[in-house]
Parts: sequence; structure tokens; C-alpha cells
Amino acid sequence: MKAEIIKKLKETDGYVSGQQLCELLGVSRTAIWKVIAQLREEGYQIEAVRHKGYRLLEVGDVLTEAECKSRLSGRRLGNPVYCFAETDSTNIQAKLLAEKGAPEGTLVIAESQTNGRGRRGRGWVSPPGEGLWFSLVLRPRIVPATAPVLTLVAAMAVAAGIEDVSGLPVGIKWPNDIVLSGKKLVGILTELSAEAGQVHYVVVGVGINVNMSGFAEEIRDTATSLYLESGRRVNRCGLAAVIMKRMEQYYQTYLTTCDLSNLMETYQERLVNRNREVLVLAPGNEHKGICEGIDEYGQLLVRLADGSIEKVMSGEVSVRGVFGYV
Ligand code: BTN
Repeated sequence: MKAEIIKKLKETDGYVSGQQLCELLGVSRTAIWKVIAQLREEGYQIEAVRHKGYRLLEVGDVLTEAECKSRLSGRRLGNPVYCFAETDSTNIQAKLLAEKGAPEGTLVIAESQTNGRGRRGRGWVSPPGEGLWFSLVLRPRIVPATAPVLTLVAAMAVAAGIEDVSGLPVGIKWPNDIVLSGKKLVGILTELSAEAGQVHYVVVGVGINVNMSGFAEEIRDTATSLYLESGRRVNRCGLAAVIMKRMEQYYQTYLTTCDLSNLMETYQERLVNRNREVLVLAPGNEHKGICEGIDEYGQLLVRLADGSIEKVMSGEVSVRGVFGYV
């Protein structure tokens, strides 16, 4: 009911009468009034005028299930959506839901995570109020070996969504870090459940530094946020909705071939490593080369000193710039 009231208030320019809401939802005026009071507590500024009704003045940066639902209704990805004020990790919760049969498109968002997880066994600091921490369940019919490509698809979608909302020119550091001004803005952790030859589900976990005004000293030099780069705060539910729209677009294109044949060019336009010297951090064998792009399987093409091309597989090794992170 909350989501429907929010939606109605948003799509109406002037006032929505109490009567209209009662008829729309089949409930009493008192029930409507109670929901309006709750919404105000959550951060919505709603004006109530006698004989006219309710008018939405401002939506704060509210990250609740009702607000997300009101923005995601009708989407194929982002439906159903679960919102936690606090959870251990949205990836953990999304995996639990997927194990119980949650459909493709299930989205888990948290205001904060107590056990946010990063790649390579690292943690992911996820305080409340500032970031967008979410995980999306996908069920592509692919063989497990090709699943790493999905993480590149997700990076493209998230980058495009961020650019739609903020206008900031975000890049991708292979395979899936999203960067701005040479610093990390987004991390993605993709996890897979599979058995011989068959993927059960994929969970794509995304952490976006949205409204942070500073970072702990250890990461200050390598991390940034949308707020730090633009001076403007971004509505996180709105950002999630735009990202889901972009994800639908890129995921659909990906599914036509189950590789990056139709997405390589778009990915490479954002690839910050392209034509730069990179350090390939293969265990026991660090070496340098020039990044020439990716292939349709998402492998990084690195031109070595002897002129040959090395194909670097994501997940096996990491890559960074010779002078630093990018
Ligand atoms: C990285 O190390 O770059 C990946 C970080 C991924 C963090 C996100 S936040 C939402 C989701 N839940 C988690 O526990 N991790 C991912």
C-alpha cells in the first residue's frame, strides 16, 4: 500500500485527495492517514491541505522497500525487491533467497552491511546513509566457465546508470571496478552456484560510493564517491532504478550470444586500461604489457614485449597500472 501511495503522489502534479487514495486502495481514510504519517517519519515531505488532499513536496534520500518498489514496479530486474535497514551482506541474503528459489531479477538492497564482502576475501566497508549496497539474482542458461563475463556486463550497466544519473564520465578498470578521476567508485563481487555444466544462479553484488564526504585514511588515495566528485547528493533508490533499467538492456543483449560479441565496443569505450601499460599480477609471474582491449569472452588482451598477445582471464589474475591503481 505504501509503494502505491508513493507512486500516486509522485505521478500527480498537484494534490491527491484522501478520497482518491481510499478508492484506489480500497481502505479507510484513517488507514491512509497512518501511512502518510509513517512516510513523513521516513523522510518524505508531504503537505496535507483540508478539502484538497496530499501533495508530495520532497522525497529525501529514502532507501526503503516501499520507495524502491514504487520506482521499480514493472521492471523485469529489480522485482521482487527486498530492503534491509541492516544486514550481514546483501550477497549472502541474495544467495539464501536464490537457494529457496527466488526468481531471476530478485534484488536485495541494504542501508548498511555488517559483513560486506569484497573480492579476494577482502571486506567492504558499508556504512548507512551514504552508499548503495545491493545484490541481484540472475539465472542465465550458461555453462559455469563462461559466467565471469557477466561481471563485465554488470560493470557496463552500473557505469551507464551512474552516468545517466550524474552526468559524470565514469570508466571501467578491467574487469569490473568502476573508476572516476583515477579512483575507485564501485566494486562488484559476482558469486556463482553451479554444478557440472550448469549454472543454478549468479549473484551480482554491487557497492557504490554515493554520498560519502570522506574515506578512512587507508583508502583515501584510491577511493572516491559521487558526492566528492560532483558536490551533489544522489538519491540512491533513483540510482538503483536507473541501474536496473540499464542492466535489463545490457543483460538482454548479452543473452543473445552469451558472450560480449555485441557489447565489446561499448565496454572498451569505458576501459581505462586501454592503450596503457599494465602490470599483470599472475601468481609468481608479474609482468608488464600494453593493454589492447578485450575479446568476446571478457579476457584482457595484453601485448607483451616480444609482440605476442597474452589473454588474461578475469578471476585468475589482477591487473593494475604500472604507476598505481589504474
Ligand atoms: C570489490 O572488492 O571490489 C567488490 C566489492 C563488492 C561490494 C558489494 S556491496 C553489496 C554486495 N554485498 C557484499 O557483501 N558485497 C557486495
